[in-house]
Amino acid sequence: MESLKGKIVFITGASSGIGKACAESFASLGAKLIISSRGFDKLEHLAVELKEKYNSEVHYASLDVRDIKSVQKFYNALPDDWKRIDILVNNAGLARGFNKLYEDDIAGWEEMIDTNVKGVLYITRTVVPGMVERESGHVINLGSIAGHQAYPKGAVYCASKHALDAITNSLRQDVIDKNIRVSTVDPGMVETNFSNIRFYGDEEKAKNVYKGLTPLFAGDIADAVIYCATRPPHANINEMVIMPSAQANSYVNYRKN
Ligand SMILES: NC(=O)c1ccc[n+]([C@@H]2O[C@H](COP(=O)([O-])OP(=O)(O)OC[C@H]3O[C@@H](n4cnc5c(N)ncnc54)[C@H](OP(=O)(O)O)[C@@H]3O)[C@@H](O)[C@H]2O)c1
Repeated sequence: MESLKGKIVFITGASSGIGKACAESFASLGAKLIISSRGFDKLEHLAVELKEKYNSEVHYASLDVRDIKSVQKFYNALPDDWKRIDILVNNAGLARGFNKLYEDDIAGWEEMIDTNVKGVLYITRTVVPGMVERESGHVINLGSIAGHQAYPKGAVYCASKHALDAITNSLRQDVIDKNIRVSTVDPGMVETNFSNIRFYGDEEKAKNVYKGLTPLFAGDIADAVIYCATRPPHANINEMVIMPSAQANSYVNYRKN
């Protein structure tokens, strides 16, 4: 197992769910963290908590991954020694709406494509050149089962995660001679704020997603990310697909009443 002590780990979307659980796990293993999301307060709270619990060094600032200028500004504002990012976790992402494509809200499409596809591209384009220069680094993307199997009423979210899968696979080939690893962790249902955001705050609908089964929890996915990040240098996890035991794939779940 490769040590994470002193490694600089940049996590996008660290204020909630999977990103937050990743921040906790990396901090507990001695990594130095750069955490970001659009909201500031939750980040600040998390930074204080990680400092208290693990004595972690944490750099935090709000960042909207959809805005290339802000992404560049955020990166350029990092102190020089914090720019040497060892591990990038491209986690910020969201689903908006659950409707047939021909009835769906176009504003939600823009949000998903801008965040899940363009946001990952902007962050990756900004951070990976430093890794290339140092010939060292690891990019871990948060994909989804939706990037393998497109389901009804989720065309654009599924398309965004299929695009991410293509980006991950291309990038891995682009950096093959640069000692940079590229992994994707692709979960099924994870109970986070994800469904609340997808259903625009309708808690009843969000709860129903997980009704009658035990979903995955954010910590399960953080475990997978840590597994990827701690393989010895000669080994790369290309892809991990993780499902709740009661979810066979995008289409088949087993729910107890
Ligand atoms: N939950 C699932 O079932 C599931 C399954 C498969 C894959 N995933 C993927 O896992 C990732 C994390 O999702 P989650 O389940 O942890 O959801 P979550 O609890 O809603 O967390 C999403 C995080 O992304 C941040 N974010 C959203 N838009 C952003 C933007 N434009 N710029 C910067 N940060 C942004 C949010 O913070 P702010 O709102 O403050 O910006 C939040 O910190 C996503 O990529 C999602 O697609 C989730």
